[in-house]
Amino acid sequence: MMESALTARDRVGMQDFVLLENHTSEVAFIENLRKRFKENLIYTYIGSVLVSMNPYKDLEIYTKQHMDRYRGVNFYEVSPHIYAVADNAYRSMRTERRDQCILISGESGAGKTEASKKVLQYYAITCPASEHVQTVKDRLLQSNPVLEAFGNAKTLRNDNSSRFGKYMDIQFDFKGAPVGGHIINYLLEKSRVVHQSHGERNFHIFYQLIEGGEDDLLRRLGLEKNAQQYQYLVKGNCPKVSSINDRNDWKIVRKALSVIGFTDDEELLNIIASVLHLGNVQYGGEDSGSAYITTETQIKYLARLLGVDGTVLKEALTHKKIIAKGEELMSPLNQEQAASARDALSKAIYGRTFTWLVNKINGSLAFKNASVIGLLDIYGFEVFQNNSFEQFCINYCNEKLQQLFIELTLKSEQEEYEAEGITWEPVQYFNNKIICDLVEEKFKGIISILDEECLRPGDASDITFLEKLENTVGGHAHFLTHKLADGKTRKIMGREEFRLIHYAGEVNYNVNGFLDKNNDLLFRNLKSIYLSICLAKLMEILMSKEPSYVRCIKPNDAKQAGRFDEVLIRHQVKYLGLMENLRVRRAGFAYRRRYETFLQRYKSLCPDTWPNWDGRLVDGVSTLVKHLGYKPEEYKLGRTKIFIRFPKTLFATEDALEVRKHSLGMSYSQKTKYRKMRQSAIKIQAWWRGILACREAKRRREAANTIRRSVFIKGFIYRHQPRCPENEYFLDYVRYSFLMKLHRSLPKTVLDKSWPTPPPALVVVRYICHESVIKTIIDSSRCEMRDYKMVASEIFKDKKDNYPQSVPKLFVGSRLSDDCANIIHPSPQYAVPVTKYDRKGYKARNRQLLLMANSAIIVEEAKLKQRIDYSSLKGISVSSLSDGMFVLHVACEDNKQKGDVVLQSEHVIEALTKVAICAEKMNSININQGSIKFNVAQGKEGIIDFTSGSELLIAKAKNGHLSVVSTAD
Ligand SMILES: Nc1ncnc2c1ncn2[C@@H]1O[C@H](COP(=O)(O)OP(=O)(O)OP(=O)(O)O)[C@@H](O)[C@H]1O
Ligand SMILES: [Mg+2]
Repeated sequence: MMESALTARDRVGMQDFVLLENHTSEVAFIENLRKRFKENLIYTYIGSVLVSMNPYKDLEIYTKQHMDRYRGVNFYEVSPHIYAVADNAYRSMRTERRDQCILISGESGAGKTEASKKVLQYYAITCPASEHVQTVKDRLLQSNPVLEAFGNAKTLRNDNSSRFGKYMDIQFDFKGAPVGGHIINYLLEKSRVVHQSHGERNFHIFYQLIEGGEDDLLRRLGLEKNAQQYQYLVKGNCPKVSSINDRNDWKIVRKALSVIGFTDDEELLNIIASVLHLGNVQYGGEDSGSAYITTETQIKYLARLLGVDGTVLKEALTHKKIIAKGEELMSPLNQEQAASARDALSKAIYGRTFTWLVNKINGSLAFKNASVIGLLDIYGFEVFQNNSFEQFCINYCNEKLQQLFIELTLKSEQEEYEAEGITWEPVQYFNNKIICDLVEEKFKGIISILDEECLRPGDASDITFLEKLENTVGGHAHFLTHKLADGKTRKIMGREEFRLIHYAGEVNYNVNGFLDKNNDLLFRNLKSIYLSICLAKLMEILMSKEPSYVRCIKPNDAKQAGRFDEVLIRHQVKYLGLMENLRVRRAGFAYRRRYETFLQRYKSLCPDTWPNWDGRLVDGVSTLVKHLGYKPEEYKLGRTKIFIRFPKTLFATEDALEVRKHSLGMSYSQKTKYRKMRQSAIKIQAWWRGILACREAKRRREAANTIRRSVFIKGFIYRHQPRCPENEYFLDYVRYSFLMKLHRSLPKTVLDKSWPTPPPALVVVRYICHESVIKTIIDSSRCEMRDYKMVASEIFKDKKDNYPQSVPKLFVGSRLSDDCANIIHPSPQYAVPVTKYDRKGYKARNRQLLLMANSAIIVEEAKLKQRIDYSSLKGISVSSLSDGMFVLHVACEDNKQKGDVVLQSEHVIEALTKVAICAEKMNSININQGSIKFNVAQGKEGIIDFTSGSELLIAKAKNGHLSVVSTAD
C-alpha cells in the first residue's frame, strides 16, 4: 500500500486493491484493473503482491532512470512496479540476511518470463559490480536467450512460450554484488519435439539453425535451408511467425553460447540436427508386418552425427529387446511401433540435451554458498479443450503454489499481528490442501495410483488406471468421472476423462497417454515418484525463503495492445486466486503503518501534535486519531504500528490532510514572507553593529598607542636612573622582554658563551643564569667525576709528569668511536684505544682496552685478543715521565695468560685511573724511574727503558730493551 495511492486514488483507480472499499466485489476489482490498464498503468498491488497486466507493447518504464527511482525506496512511496518488488527483495536479503524468492505466476502469455527478465536486468544494472561480477552478470543475462531457444516455442497463446518451468537462484556476496547463479528446470514439454498442434511450432532452436545456420555448417550437418523438409517441423503448419526473426535470433544465441563459455558448440548442434534427421526416418512394412527403414540417407547422417554404427542404429530403430527365459532376444517392431520408438528416441535425446545444457550453464555460473534471490517462472494453470498428463502436472504444481501462497500470506499476517500484540481473528478462506492431498497423498493419491498402475505386472492401461481411480478416490468431493457423474454432467464429459475440481475451477483430464508419459518420468528417475519428489523439492526451496509474488494477467488472447477482454481477465483473476488473496489481506486491517510514518504524515491535523510531538510516538498517534474522531472498532494500536480496519477511515483522514495542506500552504507563504523580512532586518542590524564596533575599536587602539608612546619615551630617557615612577614601566617592560627572550634561547652547555646581551639593568641576571646552567649540567656527572679526579690525583699527583695536563680534561666513559663501542656487548665501563707492544719484537699493534665488570679485555675490532681477570692482575707499572706507556702485570700461575702486557695510551692517566677503580687496584700502581721490568712468557724478563727527549720515540733498542723517549710536556 502506498501513500501515493492515497492521493492518486481518484485519478487512476487504486494503486493497491487493499484500499478498495468493496474488497469482496470482483466487479470492483476488475474495474480497478480496467481503469489503470487504460492509462498504461500495468502494475497494481494487493498489499505486497504485484499484479501485472501484459501491455503487449513496449512501455517507457524500464529505463535506467526508472531503476534509480526504485532503488532503496520504501515500497509504498513510489508507484507499483516490478522494480519495487525486485528492490524490496534485494533489500530484505541484505538487511535481514534472509534468502528471498520471487514467485511469478500467470497463464501462458501473461508476461511471466518478461517479468523475470526485468528483475534480472534490474539486479544486473543496479547492483554493485566488479570485473569478475561483470562476467557473472553477462552469463546470467545470456542464459536467457539460450534457454529460450531450446525451451521456448511459438504456441497459440504465446509466440515465445516457455515450455519448461524454471527456477533460478541469483547469488549475492556480502557486498550485494551478484556473483553466481543456479538454474533448475522442470517438466520440459518433450512431446513438442515430435508433434505440434495446428498453428504451433517446435522449439525455436530448430528453425534458428535452419534459417540462420551458415552454409558450411548446414552442409556438415546434412541439413537443407528449408523447414518444410523436416517432418518434426511441419506438423503445426506454421514455419514462419511474423513476430519472430529466426535468422537474427540465431546470431543472438550463438553469441550468448560463447559468453556462457561454449567454446565449441559442435556436439550440441550435431544433436539438434540428428533429431531433425530422426524425424525424417521413414518405415515400410514387410509382408510379415515387420518394419524396415526406407530412408537410408537419414541413417547415414545420423550414424555420423551421433557417432554410432549405422547397422546398430537401424536395428535399434526397428527392433525391441525382449528377455525370454533369461535370454535377450531382438524382436521386430511393426510400422506403428517403430515410428513410436523413433519418436521416443527423439524426445529422449532432446530432453537430455536440454538438461545437459542447463547443467552446462550452471557450471559457468559458479554457484557458491551465498545469499540468494530465487526467481520462479513456471507456467500457470492450463485449461484446454483436451487436457492431458502435461496439464495435469502443471495444474497440480499451481495448486501447490496456491497453497503455499495462501499459507505464507496468512502466516505472515498472523506473525505481524502477533509481533504487534494484536489479537488475531481467524480468517475464513478456501484451503486447497484437500485437493493437493487428493493428488499427492501416499498410497491413496492420484499420483500414487498412477505409479502403481505403471509398475504392476499384467496388462495395465490408461483405462484400467481410470477404473482404479474410480475405485479408490471415487468418493472424493473434488473428483468426478463420467461414470460417477449425474446425467447433466455426463453430457459434457468424455468416458476417458476424469475431472478435478481445482480451487480455480473444474478441469477435465483425458487419461489417454497418462501411463506412457508417467513411465517416461518414472524410468528417468529410477522408479521414484518423480513428479511429487520434483515438486516437493521445489516447495522446500520456496518455503525456506521469504517470498514475493508477481501475478501476471494477459488482457486478451489476440496478443493485442490496449484490448481489455473482461471475460478472459475475470477467469484469470479467479485462477490466480486474487480475490482470495485480497480477502486474506483485508481480513483484519486494510492499512498499517509505523507510528513515526503515520505521525509524520498526519501530525498537522491535530493542534497537539503540530508542529512536533515530544512524547512517546504511540501517545502522539493516539492523541491524533482521537482528535480525528476514530471510533475504537476502526483501529488498533500495536507495539510499533497503527492498524486501520477500513479504507474509508483512512480516506477521511487523507481528505482532511488535503484541506489542511491547502491552509498550511497559505500560512506557509505568509510565513515565508515574514521570515524573509526578519532575516533582512537581522542582516541590516548586524551590519550596522559591526560598523559601530569597528569605530570603537579603532578609537581605543589610538588612545592606547598615544599613552604608550609618551610613557615609553619618558621611560627610555630615565632608564639609567634608579627605579622611579618615570622609568618604572619602561624597566619592567625591558626586563620582561629580555627574560622572555632568554627563556627561549638559553644556552645548552657551560661553554656556550653566546648569551643574549642583557640590558644594563639586568647584567647581574646573566651571572645568576650562567651559574644555574653550569650547576644543572654538571650536577649529574659531577660527583662521579670528582671521585675519579680524586683517585687520579691520589695516584699521580706530583709523581708522573703528564698528570697536570690531565687535570682540566673531563674523564669520559669511552674513547672509542660510537661505531666501535656499540658492537661490544655488554657495554664496557670504560673503553680506550691502545697500542700494544708484543713481548719479543716490541712490534706495535692497534688494540682497544675495555674494562668490563670482572676483567680487562684487549680486543682488535671487537675480536677478543686477551682477557685479564682483575683477580689475576698483580700490578700496573708506569714511568714517572710524560709518556703513555704502562704495563699490566699478570699472575703467572694462570696458564692461559701469556705474560705481562705492554701498552701505550694517549689518555694514560684517565685509563689507569679507571683500571685502578674497576679492578680496585689503587694501591698497585707503581710509578718507576728509569725502567720497568716485566714478565715475558715462560719466566723470561723484559725491560723498558725510559728517557726524556724532544720527541716521543718508542723502539727496540740494541740491547733488546724497549726504549721509550718521553717528551717533556
Ligand atoms: N512488460 C511487458 N512489456 C511489453 N510486452 C510484454 C510485457 N510482458 C509481456 N509482454 C509481451 O507478451 C509476450 C509474452 O510474455 P511472456 O513470454 O513473458 O509470457 P509467459 O507468461 O512467460 O508465457 P508462457 O507461460 O507461455 O511462457 C512477450 O513476448 C511480450 O511480447
Ligand atoms: Mg514464459
